[in-house]
Amino acid sequence: MNREPRAGASGELHAASQAQPNIALIKYWGKRDAALNLPVVGSISITLESLWTRTDVRFVPGQKQDRITLNGRGEEAESRRITACLDLLRQRAGVDYGARVASRNNFPTAAGLASSASGFAALVHAGAQALGLALSLAEQSVLARRCSGSAARSIFGGYVEWAHGQLADGTDSVARPLLGADAWPLRVAVAITSTAAKQVGSTEGMRRTAQTSPYQSAWIDTQEADLSRAREAILARDFEALAQVSEYSCLKMHALALAAQPGLLYWNGATVECMHRVRALRQQGVPVFFTVDAGPQLKAVCLPSAIEQVKAALRDVPGVLDVLDSGLGEGARNIAAGVVEA
Ligand code: DP6
Repeated sequence: MNREPRAGASGELHAASQAQPNIALIKYWGKRDAALNLPVVGSISITLESLWTRTDVRFVPGQKQDRITLNGRGEEAESRRITACLDLLRQRAGVDYGARVASRNNFPTAAGLASSASGFAALVHAGAQALGLALSLAEQSVLARRCSGSAARSIFGGYVEWAHGQLADGTDSVARPLLGADAWPLRVAVAITSTAAKQVGSTEGMRRTAQTSPYQSAWIDTQEADLSRAREAILARDFEALAQVSEYSCLKMHALALAAQPGLLYWNGATVECMHRVRALRQQGVPVFFTVDAGPQLKAVCLPSAIEQVKAALRDVPGVLDVLDSGLGEGARNIAAGVVEA
């Protein structure tokens, strides 16, 4: 069912949306269908609050090409993926207008901070609205997944599970909320240890891992148990249980990727030192655990009472450039036009 497109006086179709990055506690790594972006495993994440992507999308009648800016500059690295994502939306709406996309992140892009998750969730949310597509959040999650797997989860807030799914067309490989952000308001300290773009992106890293890592089948076989442990821990608000299964999933994903050929080493020295610091804190009774994605930043997840102590400990680690701090936030949503300058 199509809604009337949001046409301005010039016939442009316009909307703007915000989405936040999510941090996987039980990791997604590996695709069973690269074209549809279907994962080999389900995953569980938390959506952040104070880091965001804001994206303004304008479909312009008569415009042939898409014009894309990220943080005020022409975007090249991701332009093919962005155009492919816009094409999915245009096909649904039956329009062929080129788009003007202006997007801003308030955090480092492409350095393992899930900018593709918030970026594609915001793009799908704004694009669908501009084109007047009446898509449910689940349908938006499926579309966001096709653009970047982890973006499926940033459509929702709080604690989110993205299902592996069974159907060949991928319509059931969709995210759903497990628990609201307010129901268990954990905090996240992000230790920035490098602002350089990562050398091997997730898509290529997953492909290399599936082709060469001897641990791929063990990874797939053990995921279901991790998902149910994490689900139970979240619903019971059992911090220690969530800490154990989350660190386990993180280290297992990196072990899998390290055993690819050539091995994928996403950490730097400061990342490893931060892991030791977090473990030392937990041994002293501080409720905190770490997780690391396909980049060198370390995310420390803690109970609210521990956040200042955790931030101070991470700041103290040589090589840590900055420590960001966030609560858990909401899913993708509409924002006022004009909030994102090109
Ligand atoms: C390590 O979602 O960036 O952050 O689907 O190829 O776009 P593509 O990959 P992406 O991979 C994220 C991998 C991860 C783990 C996770 O977020 O679950």
